[in-house]
Amino acid sequence: MQSLTFRCPDDFHVHLRQGAECGNFARDARAAGFARVLVMPNTLPPITTAAALNSYRREIEVAAPGLSALMTFKIHPKLDRVALAALKAAGAVAGKLYPEGVTTNSEDGVRRLEDAYGVFALMEELNLVLCLHGEHPEAFSLDREAAFVTGLAGLRSAFPRLKIVLEHVSSVAGLEAVLADGPLTAATVTVHHLLYTLDDMVGGKLDPHLFCKPLLKRPEDRKRLVEAALSGSPKVFFGSDSAPHTREHKESALCSAGCYSMPVSLSLLVSLFEAYGALNCLEPFVSRFGAEFYGLTLNQGIVTFVKEPWTVSKLYHGVVPLQSGATLPWSLDSSQGV
Ligand code: DOR
Ligand code: ZN
Repeated sequence: MQSLTFRCPDDFHVHLRQGAECGNFARDARAAGFARVLVMPNTLPPITTAAALNSYRREIEVAAPGLSALMTFKIHPKLDRVALAALKAAGAVAGKLYPEGVTTNSEDGVRRLEDAYGVFALMEELNLVLCLHGEHPEAFSLDREAAFVTGLAGLRSAFPRLKIVLEHVSSVAGLEAVLADGPLTAATVTVHHLLYTLDDMVGGKLDPHLFCKPLLKRPEDRKRLVEAALSGSPKVFFGSDSAPHTREHKESALCSAGCYSMPVSLSLLVSLFEAYGALNCLEPFVSRFGAEFYGLTLNQGIVTFVKEPWTVSKLYHGVVPLQSGATLPWSLDSSQGV
């Protein structure tokens, strides 16, 4: 296979940051071939109001023509019916739940899941998707996802019609909990959790550019995630969790979690699916299942990847990307996209 054309993909989990850099990261998303991105709300201050959501979307779409920003808000137990209805009317498609302190800018996160049950009830009524950063802050760091998902069954029985996405699923336990539930529970999978384990980050010399939350896990976790991504299950779809932090910050003590995968994610996915003889499963994973879960129309455009090696830039706007400086076999043919 020398060339692969498929429906324009969506990325159902990105961090675009704010201010001057936001435009750069949004343009990178468009240049990478994505038509739509689900934008996470963990800016400073966070996106919690309709006004903030509108101006953030405008900033993104003005900076990156051709990219549609699907917007989320950060869940706070105090969000009431009026605020949530305004967010919905402003076009929010989902609310993101961050447990307290589990990742970048989550110090204002929710302490106990039950504290946000009032918000979940309103979200269910308004047909807003609940996106979960599924880590229990008090568990050992490798076990945080497993500890968190013990609460999923209770959440489901309290809110039988709520659409729930376990974001950046990273473990067998997380995945099995999602698959055990019905069609209203899904998971996004990142390219870094599909390709790496904890050993890639800390098994030899420390690689801070692979430090992400949830942490990369064991080989058996990675293997199960790959199986799930290739399985053709509509409950498992792509969300990169592309999360840029500057090189200076990543290569320093107390660096934040996050991998900047946006420029390379699709190329790496083509190679991965090709290696497993499953290129036919790629388009549903990146271009269909997420849109269907969210009740969105499918993108009309196409992207074409060709087997022509390209070398990943060492730095994008001061950020070290995943596979920095590496040569990858599949490149996006930008003359072919629509
Ligand atoms: O690695 C991560 N980085 N995981 C997250 O959940 C947040 C993200 C960020 O915003 O940097
Ligand atoms: Zn994220």
